[in-house]
Amino acid sequence: MNSVLVASNRGPVSFTVDADGVLTMKRGGGGLVSGLSAVVRDRDVLWICAALSDGDRSAVRQAPGGRLDHAGYDTGPLRMLDIPPATFHRAYNAVANSTLWFVNHLLYDIPNAPLFGTRFFREWESYRDYNGAFALALAEEAAHDARVMVQDYHLTLTPAMLRAERPDLRIAHFSHTPWAPPEYFSLLPDEVAREVLEGILGADHAGFLTERWAQAFMDCCAHLLKAEVSGDTVTHEGRTTSIGVYGLGVDGDALWARAREPDVESHMAAIREQVGDRRLIVRIDRTELSKNIVRGLMAYREFLDSHPEWHGRVVHLAFAYPSRHDLPEYREYTAAVQRSAKAIEDEYATEDWDPLILNVNDDYPRSLAAYRLADVLLVNPIRDGMNLVAKEGPILSPRCALVLSREAGAAAELGADAIVVNPYDIGETARALHEALTMDERERVRRAANLRKAATALPPERWFAAQLAAL
Ligand code: G6P
Repeated sequence: MNSVLVASNRGPVSFTVDADGVLTMKRGGGGLVSGLSAVVRDRDVLWICAALSDGDRSAVRQAPGGRLDHAGYDTGPLRMLDIPPATFHRAYNAVANSTLWFVNHLLYDIPNAPLFGTRFFREWESYRDYNGAFALALAEEAAHDARVMVQDYHLTLTPAMLRAERPDLRIAHFSHTPWAPPEYFSLLPDEVAREVLEGILGADHAGFLTERWAQAFMDCCAHLLKAEVSGDTVTHEGRTTSIGVYGLGVDGDALWARAREPDVESHMAAIREQVGDRRLIVRIDRTELSKNIVRGLMAYREFLDSHPEWHGRVVHLAFAYPSRHDLPEYREYTAAVQRSAKAIEDEYATEDWDPLILNVNDDYPRSLAAYRLADVLLVNPIRDGMNLVAKEGPILSPRCALVLSREAGAAAELGADAIVVNPYDIGETARALHEALTMDERERVRRAANLRKAATALPPERWFAAQLAAL
């Protein structure tokens, strides 16, 4: 039995299985996993996550009670849930990623989507089952009075389900995404919107990355549930949930220690070899609709167009690693990113100058190398819960100028020392790239120091401890 538990869809590790059935373990990606991994491990917290792939499923099936640490893997206490693949697929792809993610990031092409018919309600049923499987596992593993930290939009129903099962527990929910304003959130069928909100309100404490997302959640509760919102509490049907804001930051020392390792250094040498002494504009993202990569490339193109004096003197390193490729929108988006990159190549590349290096394979040490070499970091999401790239960059590059979307949660903390842009305005973004490249050396160093301070203000350890304390 455990006294502190964490539940999330993606766990700290994932497995691939080769033709001979040999399993290889790899670290998971994304903001949630980077925030939680070290903390959970150091504190001996039990982490419950879902098996995401065939590799994960074969690993779980060989582990007693789904405990990968008991099967000899060096993961820290970790239980993976082997949810039936079809149920998992509908819950993760259809509901979590195609619906709740789209709503909270305002991603719909409204004249055509969303569409809620019979098919959706079948998918919704699977989302309930999937949330139920987490609630059951948590109820089994939690000691009396334990504290349980449920993560993200995949698991909005779990808090209320778990409370029904185990009223003795203290439950928190944390959203790593933005939250939509009520008029957009109510695109969801009324009963679904209600169930999501009431699911989270099943927790004692609901956490968000910024004031803005917390406020949007409370607005949804007030408008759609007629809940009573007062200060930082929401009262609904006799129960009160407190709301907290925890701006997840980065453990700067740990990041630096990793970024000084030889594999990173050799990637730095390779990049230097490739680009020479040209200035570097860097971006690092999952290939994710909300990250606005295509408009970022269009802005770079506009910048090259209006500043011929930079031709041959600057290179844009764009790392967009694969994500959610089961969804057609993401496959199409990856193709659109590649088309935009090709257009830039076709128009501007010369015999001895590659204006853009687009890389679509995940390579963590290479990303760290790019951060270290960046003169400019471009972070221009349409909407983002926080965006840790914006925080990692200035930690690793002491003279990096940050071009940052005002719609990223990180803008609340970093805006004062970044060049803030409207992510839809590629003209403004192009001008910001120019401003960032030409920023005076003293000014860029001064701003980077402030950014670094803000980025490390609430490292994962303290972020986690603060939420535990709130329970
Ligand atoms: C965001 C979400 C996380 C998610 C991550 C990666 O950061 O808030 O919950 O794990 O993206 O997405 P994926 O679908 O690959 O887990």
